[in-house]
Amino acid sequence: MARIVIQNLTKKFGAFTAIRDMDAVFADGQVTCLLGPSGCGKTTLMRMIVGLEKPTSGRILFDDRDMGSLPPRKRNVGMVFQYPVMYQTLSVEENISLPLEQDKTLSSSERARRIDEVLDILDMRDKRKLFIGDLDAGSRQKVAVGRAVARRSDIVLFDEPTTNVEVHAKLLLIRAFKLVTQRLRQTIVYVTHDQTEAMTLADRVALMRDGRIIQYDAPAALYDTPATEFAGWFLGNPGMNFPPARVRGGQLETPLSALPLVVTDLGDAGGDLRIGVRPEHVTLTGAPKNGSVPAVIRDMNVTIAGRFVVTLDVEGVTIKAKTDGRPAFGRGATAHLHVDPVHMSLYRDGVRIGSLAGYAE
Ligand SMILES: Nc1ncnc2c1ncn2[C@@H]1O[C@H](COP(=O)(O)OP(=O)(O)OP(=O)(O)O)[C@@H](O)[C@H]1O
Ligand SMILES: [Mg+2]
Repeated sequence: MARIVIQNLTKKFGAFTAIRDMDAVFADGQVTCLLGPSGCGKTTLMRMIVGLEKPTSGRILFDDRDMGSLPPRKRNVGMVFQYPVMYQTLSVEENISLPLEQDKTLSSSERARRIDEVLDILDMRDKRKLFIGDLDAGSRQKVAVGRAVARRSDIVLFDEPTTNVEVHAKLLLIRAFKLVTQRLRQTIVYVTHDQTEAMTLADRVALMRDGRIIQYDAPAALYDTPATEFAGWFLGNPGMNFPPARVRGGQLETPLSALPLVVTDLGDAGGDLRIGVRPEHVTLTGAPKNGSVPAVIRDMNVTIAGRFVVTLDVEGVTIKAKTDGRPAFGRGATAHLHVDPVHMSLYRDGVRIGSLAGYAE
């Protein structure tokens, strides 16, 4: 196994900087998901790890081995791309076997054992003799995953391997992938711009923006306490609400709460202060309750998961709420909006600075 150490890494294409001064460690035997908007540098970073692209400056190490200008074939890194090259006229097991045959140190019985192990984990034993051309897209990608991991390289990179797979097959593929990584404990870097996929698969998520990793955290931490407004907005569907806040007499006021709030770790009170709250933590009731504020319902949409996203107006500020069932209010009605202070975070100039301790006395 190997951890991936990225030091001061920069990649420029002419005047354009794709990766900026990046420092990171992707832990040994873990799944790190690179998540971020299109063009933020995910593929460029992967191509540098595998050796297809040379850094402009900085270093990449596997454990303490500097990869320097080592060519891809000497790095022992497996890689699965969005459109992997598969041999249509070879069977499933032949496709998995091909890269293993290049390793002359492997006996044929060890090769057979590895193929069998991978087919077993992927639940594809019964498909071993089928031709790739006869499989659906999801099964083909499963074979590509199997082929990449059967080599037992220390590091395996995946660049959006589920993009061309339909939703149901995608779920099966993700489940198979999870089993493979749990069993083989290789160091995996997995690129996606599908946040659900990142949250399901990752031990750690590296959230990228403009060539930088802006947060590297466990999925739950990234979701619950995003370090920046960008992270809060990017994750979640819809993303976090960021209504304004202001400090008066040592207490915090926001349109989200009829009662002033107590803040921890406020420091000085300058800058653009905002409250971050997830739509699923915004509740709506018919009767007022402690701290609730009146809100006018502007719009309502059902989501694919059968939940409702409600757009509300609170003193001219737009807030989104997410409810499990259909809300008991129609468009134009006034409801009482309530957010428990434990679900609020405080942001200053786009950066999370603390949590809220509750209502002021
Ligand atoms: N060979 C190249 N020459 C010039 N610019 C490039 C080259 N490769 C990538 N770029 C630019 O670098 C930026 C990062 O590209 P990259 O492919 O790494 O993004 P990405 O995060 O993988 O995006 P996506 O989610 O769309 O795959 C983009 O603006 C892209 O246009
Ligand atoms: Mg890409």
